[in-house]
Amino acid sequence: MNQLVLINKFLLIGGLLAVSNQVTSFPLAAMSGESSIKTVAYEDVKALKDNKDVLLIDVREPSELQKTGVLPGSINIPLGQVENVLKNASPEDFLSKYGRPKPDVNFPLVFSCQSGRRSLVASETAVKLGYKNVSSYGGGWSDWEKKSKQ
Ligand SMILES: *[C@@H]1O[C@H](CO)[C@@H](O)[C@H](O)[C@H]1NC(C)=O
Repeated sequence: MNQLVLINKFLLIGGLLAVSNQVTSFPLAAMSGESSIKTVAYEDVKALKDNKDVLLIDVREPSELQKTGVLPGSINIPLGQVENVLKNASPEDFLSKYGRPKPDVNFPLVFSCQSGRRSLVASETAVKLGYKNVSSYGGGWSDWEKKSKQ
């Protein structure tokens, strides 16, 4: 084997390693985040109406809620405020603003939005903050509206 071939082989292996690192690190990170986020369906969310052991958080904007309606039993924290509120709001402020005790990291959270995209982002935020029982209403208000009319 001459030196040129050897160098080429090293470059090839180095290249493959670099590529495989890039390819695997992303999906792995995404998967480990998502695997701890459960998806709940209409019937589950409907049952939350009078359940004080789970906190249902609608992360749409207040203007959207005014236009469409409010999920029974939900509180409203727009997506842009979720991280700050969960991280920094004092228990007193949380209770007086949302009418529910501030959840600790073991308290089950269910996030909802319009179509399921923002609720997933909010869920990832909560997981990142250490919340251990986090779910996203996959269908969101779109699904709720359809099914609650049936
Ligand atoms: C997560 O919360 C749900 C209620 O939404 C509860 O039924 C379930 O047992 C909890 N899971 C864990 C692992 O605590």
